[in-house]
Amino acid sequence: MALAARVFSATLMLTAVLFGDISTAGEVFTMSQLKAAVNECNDTYFLSQKNWDTVFTTGSLEDENDLVAKCFFECVLEKTGAMDEKGNINSDITKAVFLASHEGTGTAVQGHDDLIDMCVPGRDETDICERGYALVKCVTVEELSRRQARK
Ligand SMILES: *[C@@H]1O[C@H](CO)[C@@H](O)[C@H](O)[C@H]1NC(C)=O
Repeated sequence: MALAARVFSATLMLTAVLFGDISTAGEVFTMSQLKAAVNECNDTYFLSQKNWDTVFTTGSLEDENDLVAKCFFECVLEKTGAMDEKGNINSDITKAVFLASHEGTGTAVQGHDDLIDMCVPGRDETDICERGYALVKCVTVEELSRRQARK
């Protein structure tokens, strides 16, 4: 029992060290919390798996004029607390949420948090769906180009 507890806390510490390399955000978010938000938002603003995959492999929606799809991303950001209903972005939570999306995949890039710090200040879209989507797009496009550069 005591040993199990120690092994467990050692694992937690190791995880913290590994992630600490990539993110220093003071917030923690998990993949399962993210999935719950995605599922909830998918009930309101349907986003097909294909469209989701397109965003994260190309950095853009299949149709850049699809406001419902943009609202899907805004919904996820709002449900996770990364953005409020007025469109104010919490950078720490945003970092944690994006990091959670890479949980267990090994796809998080070095300097992960910098991408968010880079993408948040430019958000001047007045429509919150446009703003939420623009944030996701900005981070994703940057991530894709860094991953490309690393190959
Ligand atoms: C939304 O729901 C549909 C139907 O259940 C599913 O196929 C799709 O993968 C879901 N979208 C996301 C982004 O999870």
